[in-house]
Amino acid sequence: MNFFLKFFRILPPELAHRLALDSLNFIHKIGILNLFYKKPELETFSFAGMNFKNRLGTAAGLDKNGDYIDCLGELGFGFLEVGTVTPIQQYGNSKPRVFRNFQDESIINRLGFNNKGVDHLVKNLKSRSYKGIVGVNVGANKKSKGEQRVKDYLYCIEKVYKYADYITVNISSPNTPNLRDLHNMDNLSDLVLSIEDKVKELNIGIPFFLKISPDETNDSIDNIIKTVESSFFQGIIATNTTIDKTNLSNKKFNNIEGGLSGRPLMDRSTETIKAIKIKSDKEIPVIGVGGVMNAADFNKKIDAGSELVQIYTGFVIKGPNILSDILKKDD
Ligand SMILES: Cc1cc2nc3c(=O)[nH]c(=O)nc-3n(C[C@H](O)[C@H](O)[C@H](O)COP(=O)(O)O)c2cc1C
Repeated sequence: MNFFLKFFRILPPELAHRLALDSLNFIHKIGILNLFYKKPELETFSFAGMNFKNRLGTAAGLDKNGDYIDCLGELGFGFLEVGTVTPIQQYGNSKPRVFRNFQDESIINRLGFNNKGVDHLVKNLKSRSYKGIVGVNVGANKKSKGEQRVKDYLYCIEKVYKYADYITVNISSPNTPNLRDLHNMDNLSDLVLSIEDKVKELNIGIPFFLKISPDETNDSIDNIIKTVESSFFQGIIATNTTIDKTNLSNKKFNNIEGGLSGRPLMDRSTETIKAIKIKSDKEIPVIGVGGVMNAADFNKKIDAGSELVQIYTGFVIKGPNILSDILKKDD
């Protein structure tokens, strides 16, 4: 796999991403995927009424359109989260918009919810063979403002809920203008109440999670906790990317606009998980994500109180063997 990883490093990031996943998909389809990676050990885990093959899943954005569900599932992830999906397909921001920083084991992206639209994703969800847990992460189109933004979330939820095991409401991408304003108390209450009405109207029985940013103040975290605790949400996904670049040693990347993921995000997102766990009276369940590059990082997320853990950047930088490295049992 090292040869392939080196090859993909010299290609532009988005091309490398697509080619790498297309290649995995191809070798999965011809039935030889298991020759290219070490299969991780299984350690089943139950949470929020769902049964997971293990506690490590993909973070949203890795497979935005659900085009790679079967091959990512076969790699041995305990669960997959696809999306962020929006009602209408959109191109996202102009390129270049993804920047890999190998020195810091990180990525900066300002993709802006590029995706093929919710109908395409639903088609893929319906035709999947993968039997594991698949969550769908929903968002709003860039052009939607105010009330329409809320309607976008409701539209996607209505489209996907029959084919998803859980739904994530993503209010934390830094790349859709003003999306993070949804963390504010009034906006968040409006959104959560509107979704709650939809859940009741359609009698939706699957769990919901709120994906938050790592750049929130203590007050904001308090408000989020209060809102989630008094709602139907099962838990929080912490966290999305950060806009803070001060942690980077390769200063060339400091002024690149976008959300930072990977190693420099690890401590910050883990602190957010700890804050949620300490401040919440009801021990809100957390899916921890941000900067997991190895087994030690994975264990830190679990020790901080995460029920489950997701990865994105670690998988891109280290390749599929990161799964068995993280999930191998101690001798
Ligand atoms: C290129 C890229 C695209 C992403 N797209 C999304 C997205 O569409 N929706 C979302 O909720 N998070 C998205 N994320 C954030 C990840 O899901 C994750 O929260 C973040 O990268 C931190 O995890 P990591 O350090 O393991 O990458 C994206 C991250 C990257 C690097």
